[in-house]
Amino acid sequence: MKIVTKIIDVKKELKEVRSHGKTIGFVPTMGYLHEGHLSLVRESLQNTDVTVVSIFINPAQFGPKEDFKEYPRDLERDSELLEREGVDYLFVPDKNEIYPEGYETYIEVLNLQDKLCGCSRPGHFRGVNTVVLKLFNIIYPDISFFGQKDAQQAVILKRMVQDLDLDVRIEVLPIIREKDGLALSSRNAYLSQEERKAALVLSKSLKEAQSMIEKGERDSVEIVNRMREMINSEPLVKIEYIEIVDMVKLNPIARMEKEALAALAAYIGKVRLIDNTILRVEG
Ligand code: PAF
Repeated sequence: MKIVTKIIDVKKELKEVRSHGKTIGFVPTMGYLHEGHLSLVRESLQNTDVTVVSIFINPAQFGPKEDFKEYPRDLERDSELLEREGVDYLFVPDKNEIYPEGYETYIEVLNLQDKLCGCSRPGHFRGVNTVVLKLFNIIYPDISFFGQKDAQQAVILKRMVQDLDLDVRIEVLPIIREKDGLALSSRNAYLSQEERKAALVLSKSLKEAQSMIEKGERDSVEIVNRMREMINSEPLVKIEYIEIVDMVKLNPIARMEKEALAALAAYIGKVRLIDNTILRVEG
């Protein structure tokens, strides 16, 4: 695996790759990798000729009171994991490489960016879109792989790719969970044992939502109320939002028909976690 830190070098390497007619798969990450990231890497390795992973903790997607400084980092462990998987290139730019002195250009995907997590994290998706578009312009991948865990991010990035006529396909892969249901996240590293146990109520409430649908419930308000009741029974957990929305515009839906996204964000102590599931009405 080649580790590259400069844009000019990674562009040169990948130009050579493309000149041989090879396809490029790309997995953008902020590091502190877990099985969720590795599932994306494996999919890329299976479906493209050359796999590029980036690790860049993007300051533009963190609010002033968010955990940019404390965000977990372990580049040595991350590169060992990626090397073992058989990744071809690891791109690790520093902040000045991506946002040099005088940087002024940002990408906004209107409406979608203000919903769900966008309400409490203004500017977050602007930061995500900007860095992802920059990375696409640097790597020029054929396929880029993202996790369903960040469902809103995936919807917004698909919109951006479509709106800006980008030549990249976005693949969204399922959430990877621990055996007990906790969705994998780099931020799980912040949880105490007690908080981790409390956090299980999030995935349990999403399972309950699906099971209500299976028993015939179609009213989203009833489902959200039941989820809220379950989560509120955990004193360590504070709900930020629970919503059932359509999967393209992310607008709240009143009645379940075929498919909808149940998404939530909650604080477990000081740790903000998100989780979601695609609710399906069978038949
Ligand atoms: O999902 C993430 O880890 C980040 O938002 C991403 C896509 C790497 C952009 O910084």
